[in-house]
Formats: sequence, structure tokens, C-alpha cells
Amino acid sequence: MPKTLQEPPSALSSFQASKRRFVGRAAETKRLIGALSDASGGDARLVMLLGEPGIGKTLLSEWVSAHAMSLGDRVVWARCWAHGAPPYWPWIQIFRDLLSDRSSAKASPGNEAAISRIKRSLPELRLEERNLDIPSGGLAGGSSSRISEVPETERFAFFETVSDLLKQVANIAPLVVVIDDLHLADTDSIQLLSFVARDFARSRILVLVTCRDEWSILPPERAAALGELAREAERIDLKGLTNDEVAEFVRKSTSIEPDQHLVSSLRSRTSGNPFFLDGLARLLTDGTALPDQLGKTGLPIPPTIVAAVERRLEPLSSVARRVLRLASVMEEEIDASILAQASGLSRPELTEAIEEAIGNGLLISVPDGRALRFNQGLVAESVRAGMTKGELRTLHGSVAQALEHLHGEDLEPHIAPTCFPFC
Ligand SMILES: Nc1ncnc2c1ncn2[C@@H]1O[C@H](COP(=O)(O)OP(=O)(O)O)[C@@H](O)[C@H]1O
Ligand SMILES: [Mg+2]
Repeated sequence: MPKTLQEPPSALSSFQASKRRFVGRAAETKRLIGALSDASGGDARLVMLLGEPGIGKTLLSEWVSAHAMSLGDRVVWARCWAHGAPPYWPWIQIFRDLLSDRSSAKASPGNEAAISRIKRSLPELRLEERNLDIPSGGLAGGSSSRISEVPETERFAFFETVSDLLKQVANIAPLVVVIDDLHLADTDSIQLLSFVARDFARSRILVLVTCRDEWSILPPERAAALGELAREAERIDLKGLTNDEVAEFVRKSTSIEPDQHLVSSLRSRTSGNPFFLDGLARLLTDGTALPDQLGKTGLPIPPTIVAAVERRLEPLSSVARRVLRLASVMEEEIDASILAQASGLSRPELTEAIEEAIGNGLLISVPDGRALRFNQGLVAESVRAGMTKGELRTLHGSVAQALEHLHGEDLEPHIAPTCFPFC
């Protein structure tokens, strides 16, 4: 557990830092500007920004925050944290900001009772100290009156107090609440947000949450709470950048003018995921690759990408991880029968592992449903990059044996693509 938890960075400064490289998202920014304008006119909105890791949820939220601040809105940020955060951590961050000394909410008459109620329920607010060091027992240790342990009626009263206070704050200036990575929040925090969203009509509030779009890997209670919240929300699903946007991305981040060939190979390796594009573009700017090598496999994969892919594999079962490692040494279209043979798994075991990988956005099934593919070629490359030569050789041997078993004498047409790139 880390010794300190970071305060959210200023959305404006984070966004300004990356503004020069911001590309695309015209439709999304238009919708978000519309939501901001509705909210500031008293038609409160809850927007969920969904998408895979690295697709640009945080950057787009920073864009919205910077825009809202330029209009004079009050913007508060919370970032959810997976490991060891206390219950209601996103709300603790929100109220630390809203109730800080510089806040007008604190001074407003009529808010004192609500504020002391919230302070009682969330002892970790510790507004007076403004010291984010975690005590030795952890932030979650301590008061027995914490709201996560109280009866339903008290919990309801707490939810209502939070909701009322947010509306009061929004009376002073339009309020934008951003909660980043809500899929990492505790279930109570998500339920509190659902309560607020049902209660905030006709107030000047925009709540913008970012969230992974794959919930099957989450604890069932949390996935159910997110599903319930999604019913109250407007969804914006972020997809990969288009070919034109990939070209603009390359232009802005490397100053080279990419040709069509480079653009389409980059797009097919990354599916337009900006985090992956950024990692590849850095190979160019740090001199590891020449422009015409950038779209090709065979270059070292940046460690940041290998680590990010490892993080995506982490929550999967060991069987699913094994299947993905095996799939990564197969041809681009992964033949399910070869995968079955090479893995030695029973059909139900393999199906479960594949469903897990699909649910986590790592594999997709190709349209005829008989084969699979990695969602991004770069993920397969990163999985391979995370293995030793010996591990690769063993997997390659299993695939070769499976091919021989299934195709026997007729092996020749199947060898070339499958052996890539280890023959
Ligand atoms: N529209 C965009 N234009 C340029 N760069 C982007 C864009 N969206 C995301 N990025 C960059 O890609 C990386 C991942 O974006 P981020 O917002 O952190 O993704 P997510 O929050 O979905 O995991 C960051 O370096 C970010 O600056
Ligand atoms: Mg993010």
C-alpha cells in the first residue's frame, strides 16, 4: 500500500500539457459541450464515458474540465484507486475539494448541518489537517461510525445529505463533478452516485464518469451497481481513432507526414488506441525506429506498452492467460480448433477462457465465428514480448504439433503464417 495518496492534478494544467497533441473526438466533444450547456442551464446530466484502457477517457474528461473552467464552472475531480482505498474514496476526494477552506460551499449559510453530517460519516475527510499521509492503520481504519457500517436508514439519510449539499453548491456556480475510473470504485460509492443522479434534476450539475467498458471481470456486486448507474446515464462509447485521426496523431506527435501505408498498418496494429499509438510514436522520436519501420512488427515493443498489456492480463484466470500466450504465437486469425488441440484444454475450459479474454476486450471473434483475433495486433506482440525465448519455443512447438495432428499430410499450406515469427 502506498504511503500517500495523490491529490487529483489540476484538470486544466493536465489538459493544457497535452492539448497540442489532442486529435479527433469531434462528435464526442460536441455532445459533451451540449451536456455542459444543459447542466449549466439547470438540466442536470450524468454522462458515462466508456472505453478500453488507453482509448482517451481521461484526456477527454480533462478537455471537458478545461472547457468548463473557462466558462466559470466549478470543477471537482476524483480518481478511483484499486488498492487499499477507504470506502467512499471518490466522494472523500470530492468533499475534500468542495469543503476546503477556499470553497464557497463552506461559507454558505444553511450548509453547516449537512457539512458536519458528512464529516461525521466520512472521518477520512480530515479537512482541518489537509494532510494526505495515511496513518499507520490505513485510512480505512478507525471510527466505528463510518457510514459503510451503519443501518440502511442512516445510509439513506447520508445519501440525501450528500445530494442536497451538491445541489446547494451548484446554486453558487454550475458544478462539474468528474470521477475517473469508476470501475475501480467501491460499490457504495457507485450506489451513492446513482442516488445523486436520480435526485439532481433541475440543478446545475454535470457528473462525468469514466469507466472501462468490460464489466464481466469486475466483482458481481460492483458490476451490478455500474449497470444500475448506466440506466440513469447518457453513454459515450469511445472507439479507436480513425485512419485520418491516426495520420493527424502521427503528424502532431512526431512531425513526420505519414503515408497511407504507414497509417493503415499503425491502425491495424493499434485499432486506433491513442495509448498504443503514443508508445509507437515514441519509438520514432527517440530514434529507435525509422518512419518506414514504424508500422511493422519486429521492433522492440516499448516497455510501457508491455507493462500495460500485462496489467490487462492480470485479472484473468491463469487458464485464460495461458490461452492468450498460446494465441499470441499463432497466425493473425486464430483457428479455434488449433487452439483447442495445442492447449490440451477441454472444450468447456477453452470456451470459458476465450469468453474471459473476449469479455476483457483482448480477443474478438471474427465475423464467421470460427476464428478469433487479438483486438489489437500490438497486444499479441506485447504478450510475446513478455515471454522468454524458451517459453516461446515451447508454445511454438505445441502449435506445430497441433497443426500436424489436425492437418497431417496436408500441413504445407498451414505452416507459413502460423510459424511466424519464430521459425
Ligand atoms: N484524442 C487524443 N488525441 C491525442 N492523444 C490522446 C487522445 N486521447 C488519448 N490520448 C493520449 O493517449 C494516452 C491514453 O489516454 P488516456 O486518456 O489516459 O486513456 P484512458 O483514460 O482511456 O485510459 C495519453 O497519453 C493521452 O494523452
Ligand atoms: Mg484514464
